Amino acid sequence: ERDMNLKEFDESIRRVKDFPKPGINFYDITSILTNSEAFGYCLEQMNLWIDELEVDTLLAVEARGFLFAAPLAQMRKIPLVLARKKGKLPGKTWCEEYSLEYGTDVVCIQQEDIAPGSRVLLIDDLIATGGTLKATAALVKNQARSSLAGYAAVIGLPFLGYEKHLDDAPIRTLINYQ
Ligand code: PRP
Repeated sequence: ERDMNLKEFDESIRRVKDFPKPGINFYDITSILTNSEAFGYCLEQMNLWIDELEVDTLLAVEARGFLFAAPLAQMRKIPLVLARKKGKLPGKTWCEEYSLEYGTDVVCIQQEDIAPGSRVLLIDDLIATGGTLKATAALVKNQARSSLAGYAAVIGLPFLGYEKHLDDAPIRTLINYQ
């Protein structure tokens, strides 16, 4: 069995024009999930980041970050923490507000889920402005008293400026689009 290369991986990502609104070129990761070679490529590469960045805990962002982080956490036998939108998680939570193109949103984690002093890799499917990951990182650093090992995603859109928001830890993406 031959490993997938970057060109084949790129071709596995579906582009949807004018979604969710006119003028936006949407990168759809569902076509990765239906292609086990492409999905395997993601997990193999992300697995290397766990070693490189000395990660001991994964924190996945709702909703599509869950899909990549869950198999990885189990492969590596390390804890998986879920960051979810406000009102979805029971018990004591820490929450952080962040700006969207129009309005704001709130991301939360459960207080008992991260052991203080953990080295946490944040995982999402795509980084656009970086707003979601920046807010999630604030929960890790300021509330959970843990450190940020890095920011990881399948796809990066650096033209939207995420690098300036995520300047406190290494950023790793499998593929970037302009
Ligand atoms: C998308 C994507 C990231 C976020 C990236 O999620 O999955 O989580 O936006 O954008 P940012 O870098 O500008 O913050 P979305 O808000 O669509 O939520 P969903 O995954 O729950 O559908």
